[in-house]
Amino acid sequence: MVAPSRSLHDHQGSLPRLPVPPLEETLNKYLKTVKPLVTEEEFQLTEEIVKKFAAPGGIGQQLQEKLQQGATSNFSLTGYNKKKKKQQRLMKLQEKLQQRAKKSDNWLSEWWINAAYLDYRWPVVVWSSPGLVFPLQEFRTLDDQLSYAAKVIVGALDYKKMLDDKTVPIDHMGKDLLDMSQYFKMLGTCRIPGVTRDSIVYHGQSENPPKHIVVVHNNHFFKIDVYGKEGKPLTINQVLHQLRNVVERSTHPTSPVGILSTQNRNVWGKAYKKLRKDKLNKASIEEIQRSIFLVALDGPIVNPTGNEMTDAALLCVHGNGSQGYAGNRWYDKTIQFIIGKKGAVGLTYEHTPAEGPPIANLMDHIMNFINTGNFQREDSTMKERKLPAIELDRPQRLMFNVSDDIKQEIEDAKCALDSLVEDLEMTCFLFTGFGTSFIKSQRLSPDSFLQMAIQLAFYRIHKEPGAHYESASTRRYLHGRTETIRSCSTESVEFAKTMLDENASADEKASSLRKAVEGHKNYAKDAVRGYGVDRHLLGLKLCAIEAGMDVPTLFMDVGYIRSSHMRLSTSQVPARCEAFMCFGPLVPDGYGCCYNPRPDSVVFGTSAFNSSPETDSATFRAALEESLMDMHDVLLKSGLKAKL
Ligand code: COA
Repeated sequence: MVAPSRSLHDHQGSLPRLPVPPLEETLNKYLKTVKPLVTEEEFQLTEEIVKKFAAPGGIGQQLQEKLQQGATSNFSLTGYNKKKKKQQRLMKLQEKLQQRAKKSDNWLSEWWINAAYLDYRWPVVVWSSPGLVFPLQEFRTLDDQLSYAAKVIVGALDYKKMLDDKTVPIDHMGKDLLDMSQYFKMLGTCRIPGVTRDSIVYHGQSENPPKHIVVVHNNHFFKIDVYGKEGKPLTINQVLHQLRNVVERSTHPTSPVGILSTQNRNVWGKAYKKLRKDKLNKASIEEIQRSIFLVALDGPIVNPTGNEMTDAALLCVHGNGSQGYAGNRWYDKTIQFIIGKKGAVGLTYEHTPAEGPPIANLMDHIMNFINTGNFQREDSTMKERKLPAIELDRPQRLMFNVSDDIKQEIEDAKCALDSLVEDLEMTCFLFTGFGTSFIKSQRLSPDSFLQMAIQLAFYRIHKEPGAHYESASTRRYLHGRTETIRSCSTESVEFAKTMLDENASADEKASSLRKAVEGHKNYAKDAVRGYGVDRHLLGLKLCAIEAGMDVPTLFMDVGYIRSSHMRLSTSQVPARCEAFMCFGPLVPDGYGCCYNPRPDSVVFGTSAFNSSPETDSATFRAALEESLMDMHDVLLKSGLKAKL
């Protein structure tokens, strides 16, 4: 991050637009990523389909044209489909697309938010919302827990002030300054369930931004005004006073209305309509949605696994289900801090408005705020200003009328969530063998090295390559989000085979390792420039759908299906402190793997589903650690040195 030398507003305005890559380039890259995952025969078929798609005047060329027009000016469908019966529909579409393209700063962003999030009907819990585990704490008493919660709240408000003042440092990647819009969407935001598509509201950006947070304890929701009567943020002691009041007034669990937000989105969308029919419920829901963020005060871990990091991760991802704290949440809220009774602390976030790095920066700020003790000075100033805590309004209880119908919805939600909780297993750990310092000393990209270790771990277990998703940030473009790095490549498979070949020499192993890392790094470089495969293909597909055309065969081909069935869903989310992000796998027979690389260690959060007999996160951890150490040893043993 760098301090903004010019205003954030000017910076945003000067960002370039996301490009539409040349069709041929994407298709060539696509073929390369399909090759390791299909048979020779299947590959020939994929090649034929791609050739037809890309032929002059073929469907791919036509769609590409539309996409390019959309990215630069207006979509135009003239001559797109001349069949009379479709003409009227196309003209209407043309109008719609023209309006959309005029308004749009980024050809993908609106499509992406809908396709990746708001149209997605599976529960946000496990399937979409990550957990972020903060460094573990040790709380002995209730007051320890509440004091820490108060510090987290005031630390987050301190960060909000930087956002409000637009003094938050601008992120950069190398020399490029990055788009910062996600930062302004984190607070005051909430997803709204719909029966077929969800929506999202950004209250933080409204003319009347919220001044309150919501705290949940024993499933009771309370609204706390965090700016006091003078309009100044409350101090730690004042917040603590309010939290004690919340806890005193919610000693027994109440009906877990919040658990409804863990449901399949269609189901929740319907239940939400029923819930909101009651005026009291509607008012409570609106306070939750409008709040700056939500804070969940949880009890002790239910069903501990024996690994505190994993316990904290599960608490953040699904709250341990109906027997735990899943009702002590509102999963549509973008930021929900979670403060466990014994010291598990973190957050879960609804993914629609932002990627992991801005959320991790918010956390790093809070950790720094707490660790440097900045708040102590503030608290003593408050004493001098003679502003006792008793002048504050009491936290307002947000009431819910729970009809028999809603009671049944809650029972259904408990059932559905508990089977998901039962299914998800995680293994989180600190790998201490080495970190980025060693990898850099070998003149290798740390991220690409770690990605290749993940490929090797998969191959070691399954004896075959796995399609592999890594998020790359496209924030060097206005409103950029992500592109996929397809980490499985011909080079990565060759590398895995060589590493596992007992007859291969250390030099051969090191050489294949360097080639695979280099191959990944090149893909990653393209992806951050917006020249990947997946977002471009998605754009072409959505263009076809919006124009009322059949989905091109390319998207039904085995090559496409196999290379998009991401058995490895991975992401790097760096943090200054020893924290880690974690999430579930993307597919039933896959793994989730998120990591925070540090100079001398790497923090990993890995996951798999119990229902898949093929996958197991503890086995994956063992294979990953073995792979990392093998790669380390091979580099040290090999006489091959990196080109300087
Ligand atoms: N020799 C020595 N050092 C090297 C090197 C080499 N061959 N290659 C890279 N390095 C250095 C880099 O200069 C960099 O140095 P720094 O620590 O001083 O900045 C460091 O190693 C890390 O670089 P690298 O590991 O190659 O990549 P990265 O950290 O830039 O990460 C991505 C790559 C793709 C993960 C990153 O660009 C990105 O997009 N991150 C966002 C992902 C995201 O949004 N995730 C969340 C989804 S919810």
